[in-house]
Amino acid sequence: MKKIKISPSILSADFSQLGNEIKRLEEAGADMIHVDVMDGHFVPNLTIGPPVIKTLRKYSSIMFDVHLMISPVHKYIEAYSNAGADIITIHPEATENLESSILKIKDLNKKAGLSLNPETDINTIVDHLKNIDLVLIMSVNPGFGGQKFMPEVLEKIRKLKKIQEEKKYIFDIEIDGGINFENSKQAIEAGANILVSGTTIFKSNNGDIKKNIELLRSK
Ligand code: DX5
Ligand code: ZN
Repeated sequence: MKKIKISPSILSADFSQLGNEIKRLEEAGADMIHVDVMDGHFVPNLTIGPPVIKTLRKYSSIMFDVHLMISPVHKYIEAYSNAGADIITIHPEATENLESSILKIKDLNKKAGLSLNPETDINTIVDHLKNIDLVLIMSVNPGFGGQKFMPEVLEKIRKLKKIQEEKKYIFDIEIDGGINFENSKQAIEAGANILVSGTTIFKSNNGDIKKNIELLRSK
């Protein structure tokens, strides 16, 4: 079984202190930093773009796990790569040609991830599973932090895990949205090996991010 990794979402961090927040997360044991990029079009919220990510890159060498909730995504992939993303995750609905967007990410020597909204079926990406590094299962409708976990997506993780084992694929399974200390265990049991969390990491236990990262990691 793969080691459980924690990818804190900076969506819940103090935006006036983002550089220091990333340092703090690294010191607290985060395995990577989840950067939620929203365009006010693919999702009803706006966040940050490449210049901010580029500036943040100087604060840490930890992996940047960049979740692009933007459409059309293809023409922006290079900008996020240049800004310092290590993993670039896109939604299949956000590109006209999924294969060419995956190839673009791989050509830039980045890890390629595909994300499935709660209502999006695995069949949408099944042909690409052999070529990618990560599947990001959304356990809320993307757009905002602090939403309620949707347990029905666990079934999708179980199916994905089964395909992965049968075909000996190597992609990571990441879950994102509403993760807390209870459902984290269910997600890991279902087959997820990377947990994204914003609210739980930054707000639980009076914001003790080290403790919260450790609690999420422990089964
Ligand atoms: C939602 C984002 C998530 C979210 C996670 O669109 O992709 O990464 O910020 O935050 P919590 O843990 O608060 O649900
Ligand atoms: Zn995300």
